[in-house]
Amino acid sequence: MTNVKYPITKKHCCAWYSLVKPVEVWLVFYLFIRRFLNNAGWGIKMEKDFWLERWEREETGFHQNEINPYLPQYWQKLHLAYGSEVFVPLCGKSRDMLWLRKQGHSVLGVELSAIAVQAFFKENGYTPHHVISEKFDHCETNGTRILCGDFFDLGKDDLAKVSAVYDRASLVALPPGMRERYARHLLSILPPATQILLITFDYLQPEMPGPPFAVSAGEVEALYREHAEIRLLAQLDVLAQNPRFQERGLSRLQENIFLLTLHN
Ligand SMILES: C[S@@+](CC[C@H](N)C(=O)[O-])C[C@H]1O[C@@H](n2cnc3c(N)ncnc32)[C@H](O)[C@@H]1O
Repeated sequence: MTNVKYPITKKHCCAWYSLVKPVEVWLVFYLFIRRFLNNAGWGIKMEKDFWLERWEREETGFHQNEINPYLPQYWQKLHLAYGSEVFVPLCGKSRDMLWLRKQGHSVLGVELSAIAVQAFFKENGYTPHHVISEKFDHCETNGTRILCGDFFDLGKDDLAKVSAVYDRASLVALPPGMRERYARHLLSILPPATQILLITFDYLQPEMPGPPFAVSAGEVEALYREHAEIRLLAQLDVLAQNPRFQERGLSRLQENIFLLTLHN
């Protein structure tokens, strides 16, 4: 038996190259799309454990020790009556609730993590009283009530007295599929004519995995336009003030502030 050798000719090389080149292009394209979808949170189910574990591990970089500066700056645009009830979804232990209370509003928050709820009251020197219902542990003191439990378990009755919503780091905390579910549920339980002050982040999603996720003005339109009048109050470039996002690779970061008014 003779050993047959197949010399690799220039013709073979060209044939291989023409096959490999499109494969490389497709591979790069595939990796880009995969990264984009991963960063954007498509296919990620952010189950309750994700947040409960973050609170247990004290990974709460989203918490601000100061009052969010946009709140005092834009809140007066709502022209809310003294004493109106303000709903703070996915409230964490946000100190913004203290500011809202100081303006004379009663405050209603909802938060999954008991650690966050206890920390809010303890760190601010309050001793809440508790009422346990089927779905929530109601913790209340001095005009501030936090329902410890799942936002998606809230019903219309829970929000019957609400006149306004303050959404900071709530919509943007969720991956895309959950954002749709969140907006749908919120709209289904809020009273007519409720106003929503909404603060979002917008950046190039492939540059960083969420949360916080990028939520464009177009997405806010798509989520709410059928049910609300939408005003973009401000669009601010804030990368320079956010070194932690620069370190995570962002080349652009905007914060958008919206005022939504639900239809009657
Ligand atoms: C990014 S943090 C923002 C907290 C707060 N809005 C702030 O500005 O500090 C999102 C919060 O939502 C809570 N959360 C997530 N999913 C929730 C749900 N389904 N129901 C209630 N709270 C939820 C998390 O535990 C976490 O505290």
